[in-house]
Amino acid sequence: MKIRWILPALISAVILSGCAGQTPSPPPEDALIVVGISQVGAESDWRVANSESMKAVFTESGGYRLLFEDAKQKQENQITAIRKFIQQKVDYIVLLPLRETGWDSVLQEAKDAGIPVIVADRMVDVKDETLFIAHVGSNFRMEGEKAVAWLEDYARSRGKETLNIIHIQGTMGSTAQIGRTAALEQALESHADWTLQVRLDGDFTQAKTYEEVKQYLSEQEVPPEIDVVYCENDNEAFGAIQALEEAGYTCGEGGIAVISFDATRNCLTQCLNGKISLAVECNPLLGPLTAGVIRILEAGGTPEKEHYIEERSFTKETLTEELISARLY
Ligand code: AHR
Repeated sequence: MKIRWILPALISAVILSGCAGQTPSPPPEDALIVVGISQVGAESDWRVANSESMKAVFTESGGYRLLFEDAKQKQENQITAIRKFIQQKVDYIVLLPLRETGWDSVLQEAKDAGIPVIVADRMVDVKDETLFIAHVGSNFRMEGEKAVAWLEDYARSRGKETLNIIHIQGTMGSTAQIGRTAALEQALESHADWTLQVRLDGDFTQAKTYEEVKQYLSEQEVPPEIDVVYCENDNEAFGAIQALEEAGYTCGEGGIAVISFDATRNCLTQCLNGKISLAVECNPLLGPLTAGVIRILEAGGTPEKEHYIEERSFTKETLTEELISARLY
C-alpha cells in the first residue's frame, strides 16, 4: 500500500512553520498521490483560470503528481486521456467533461480498474451514478435563472415588457449550455411579449460568436431591433459586442442589454463601464474543492455527491474598482 504524503506534508508544514530558514524536504516520488486531469481545452478565459486553479493545488509540494491532458475541445481526446490514466494506474481521475453524454463505457473502465473519478465543472449523464464519486462545480440552471430574474426586472423598469432577444449558446450538450438555455427557454414560454429573434451557436468562444453574429446581421434586409443579447459566457459576449458595434449598434446603457456568464475580470471591467449589463458569476476556482474531495477519500471518508461552488451576479451598481482588482481571474 502506498504511504500517502498528504498528511505528512501537512504535519511537516505545521512543525516547520516555527523553524525559519529550513526548507521542507520534497516528498518521496512514490508517496505522491497521482491525479490525472482531463481538461476540455482552453476555449475561454474561464477555462484558463480553471486549469490554473487545478495546477496550483495539485503540486508536488502539496503531495500530488499531476498528469494533465488538454483535450482541445474533443470528447474523443478526453476518452483517450482517461484510458491513458487507467494504464498509468493513477490514484484519481478528475474529468471536466466537454458534454454530458457518452461517458458510460470509459467511466465503467475506470471503475473496473478501481480508480475513483471526480467530475468537475460540467456534469456527466450516465446510467449508473456510481461511475463517479462526486461532482464539483456550478449550478448552471440556477445561473440561468438569475439572469432571467434580472431580465424580468429590467423589462419592468424600462416600462416596456416587449423584448427582442438574441441568444448565443455555448458548446451544445454541455451542462453549462443546457442549464443556461433551459432557464431562458422557460422564460420565453412564460413571457408572450419576449421574442427570440435568433439562436446562434457560439461554442463558448469569442471568434465563433463574432463570426456568427456578423453573419446573422449581414443576412438581414433591415437591421433588426435588438433589446437583449443573452451570451452563455464572457468570451461570447466579447465577440457579440464587437460584431454588434461594427454593425452600428450600441451595447450597454441606452442600447442593447448584454447578459454574460462567468464574470471574469475583463467582463466585470466592461460591466463597470456600462457595456455589459449583467455578469452572472461562474466560479472557475475548482482546484481546492476537488482536492477537498480527494482529502476526504484519502482519510477513508465518503464525500457528498454534489458540491456546488458559491456564485454571485454583478451589475454596474454592485461593482467597484477594488472588487475587480481583487478578482483572481
Ligand atoms: O463549463 C463552464 C463554462 O465553460 C464557462 O461558462 C465557459 O466560459 C467555459 O468555457
